[in-house]
Amino acid sequence: MQEYSFFDKGVNCFDYAKYSPLILFTHKYQHLKEKIRRDAVKYLFADKRHIFDEIEKVCIEELAKVNQNRSSLDVEHEVERKLHFSQNQNGFVHNRLSERCYRIKDQIIASINDLTLTFSPTDKILDVGAGSGLITQLVKHELEINYALLTDVVDYRYPEVRSSRGIDFKLFKQPFNKIETDQKFQVAITTNTLHHCDHPKEVFKTMASYLEPGSILFVIESCIGIDKDYVKSNLHSTKIPCQTLYHENGSIQSDQLEYLDLTNEEKMIYGIFFDWIYNRVFLNENINVPYNFGHPEDWNIYFESSNFEVLKTYLMGFDQPAALEFHTLHVLRKT
Ligand SMILES: C[S@@+](CC[C@H](N)C(=O)[O-])C[C@H]1O[C@@H](n2cnc3c(N)ncnc32)[C@H](O)[C@@H]1O
Repeated sequence: MQEYSFFDKGVNCFDYAKYSPLILFTHKYQHLKEKIRRDAVKYLFADKRHIFDEIEKVCIEELAKVNQNRSSLDVEHEVERKLHFSQNQNGFVHNRLSERCYRIKDQIIASINDLTLTFSPTDKILDVGAGSGLITQLVKHELEINYALLTDVVDYRYPEVRSSRGIDFKLFKQPFNKIETDQKFQVAITTNTLHHCDHPKEVFKTMASYLEPGSILFVIESCIGIDKDYVKSNLHSTKIPCQTLYHENGSIQSDQLEYLDLTNEEKMIYGIFFDWIYNRVFLNENINVPYNFGHPEDWNIYFESSNFEVLKTYLMGFDQPAALEFHTLHVLRKT
């Protein structure tokens, strides 16, 4: 077995230590692996136990072949290549990705109703890191807004988004300091994107520069470092659909309690593992995974220092059927 330093990936944009997802298959994280297996089978693989077992088998086989010339990244790429076909052939991933977009749309709309926000048909929406584009298409439709501009570093919009009226797309290019448009926007959406950017704060700054004062921005992020006390002080999250943190009686669900009891390092590895599986094994878009996860308050401090008022932070738990990460929805107003 490799030295633990083999899995070390330095620190992320918030200075938290990050690792190769393969570290999960070392002796030290046996307990975490069992927790991840249980959660993956329950939430992600819909009882298809063999999917996790296959991932584990391939990772362990490839780790056993490691020599001095292979970095952990080389091994990850080999595992991705081997798993890609076998994991995607049954089509279950695509269904989950669409289902996930509908859930996120419902969550954004629930926050709008909760905060009694109103929009006009002439408002314009900007989505940074739009991916399939389905979320913004659905939100635009529900809010009866006429126009949206999607941006991403890769264009993998769904066909129905490509042919949709009132939706444009611009490729977002390095060094990410401008978007090719003269327009200003009143609504912005960036879901599960900031932690994929090598320099999320620069991307955020660029997005902010296209928003008018008073604009509303919806950010969904995968977070780390959340504990029971933080959850208990954020009980208003129950208003959001598909959150899995609480039972109907308001108590925290037992598998979420287990998650909250993990150490901060284990929570980081938990997030890394699912981010990698979802973006690198299930998707074939070569999505960047720098694991720029922060605590929700790290993000809020950053948003406030960038002239945004945090209207509310919703804790959603494992709310999505594809990426099993602890999510928060931050609703911000540009001052
Ligand atoms: C997990 S996907 C989320 C897609 C979509 N927002 C959603 O929630 O379905 C992360 C997205 O971030 C995009 N991304 C990565 N680096 C980026 C950057 N520097 N600027 C903007 N988007 C970026 C990726 O191409 C990918 O589409």
